Amino acid sequence: MTEIRFTVDGRPCLAKPGQTIVEAAKANGVYIPVLCHYEGLKPAGSCRICTVRVAGRYMAACTQPVTEGMAVENTAPDLEDMRKSLIEMLFVEGNHFCPACEKSGNCELQALGYRYRMLAPRFPYLWPVRTVDAGTPLVLLDRNRCVQCLRCVRGVRAKDGRKIFASVRRGPRVAIEIDHKLAAKLTEEEARRAMDLCPVGAILRKETGFVRPIGRRKFDHTPIGADVEKGIGR
Ligand code: FES
Repeated sequence: MTEIRFTVDGRPCLAKPGQTIVEAAKANGVYIPVLCHYEGLKPAGSCRICTVRVAGRYMAACTQPVTEGMAVENTAPDLEDMRKSLIEMLFVEGNHFCPACEKSGNCELQALGYRYRMLAPRFPYLWPVRTVDAGTPLVLLDRNRCVQCLRCVRGVRAKDGRKIFASVRRGPRVAIEIDHKLAAKLTEEEARRAMDLCPVGAILRKETGFVRPIGRRKFDHTPIGADVEKGIGR
């Protein structure tokens, strides 16, 4: 199989045919931040955190395949600031109270906030009124923390393939809904996977909490992206 040559910020990299920029960059030890992307799920291209620049054009690195000779800009100051502003927007657009959230330390949005040294967001807080759905036996859906990444919609399915989560409405009223009948049949393992798929604390496994104390969680010691940059697990 012929490999494709490309660069990220001038660094020579190799990609397999069909690999997206995010996948190929990761395989070369280059971290491009993602939020809606999840390995193994069809890319949605919805959050735009992974935006890179190629020949002056902005593109979502999680959906764009690498082509021969592509010169990808990933860490230009304006791109990094754009990503930071997207993260800030997500924080002000929902109701995120990290110290009281079960996902603190395992939350990708929080970890990105740290990576981009977010202090006070540059946008005003909206404090939207959102609802919590506790109507299924094993999972709790807290829409206050939802960032509309659609990972749950794409990745959580019943045995017959039907979707358990769906995105309804548009604009400021957009929300995730659960099919209660299907969700009632989720196994313990499937409920745990739904929680793990969610990058924030919007989907939680009921009845268990703070089993691993804050301070000993995924991003408490290894900042987001550091595993890719250090080549851990490649
Ligand atoms: Fe690429 Fe969300 S990670 S658009």
